[in-house]
Amino acid sequence: MKTAVRYFSKLGNTKKIAEAIAQGAGVKAVSIADDPKLQEYVDILFLGGAPYANIMAPELREYAESLKAEQVGRVILFTTSNWSRRTVLALRKLLANNGIKVDKEYFFAHMLHINGRIEAAREFGNHLTRKS
Ligand SMILES: Cc1cc2nc3c(=O)[nH]c(=O)nc-3n(C[C@H](O)[C@H](O)[C@H](O)COP(=O)(O)O)c2cc1C
Repeated sequence: MKTAVRYFSKLGNTKKIAEAIAQGAGVKAVSIADDPKLQEYVDILFLGGAPYANIMAPELREYAESLKAEQVGRVILFTTSNWSRRTVLALRKLLANNGIKVDKEYFFAHMLHINGRIEAAREFGNHLTRKS
């Protein structure tokens, strides 16, 4: 199963969660600020970000808007924040508009409990990519 992890993180919280999910999935987490392009079709794309004053970073929005249904089997979202799940809701809507399947299940980590959620994030990445 081909898997990729892409994220956008200003302060480092989402990066830590992305890296843990990627570790669980056996791949590398890549910041969309560095190298957003998917080199090949992936069955699962883990995609994450955070809200800043209630909206996701424009970089993340642009990236999500540029994704095409032919590039991904399905997307699994993750987010970190103080309280808001808005990034997940907004990404889900935006991706669905592009005809991209998005899992209902997503991963959330509160910004004050990132280190306590690393193991759960690893397990999340692992169990969703494990071959049955
Ligand atoms: C300028 C700024 C605005 C923020 N606005 C929100 C917000 O509207 N809702 C929320 O739940 N968290 C908000 N947060 C908290 C961030 O979403 C949270 O710290 C998140 O983990 C940051 O992710 P990052 O470390 O990957 O950049 C804000 C943080 C900053 C610095």
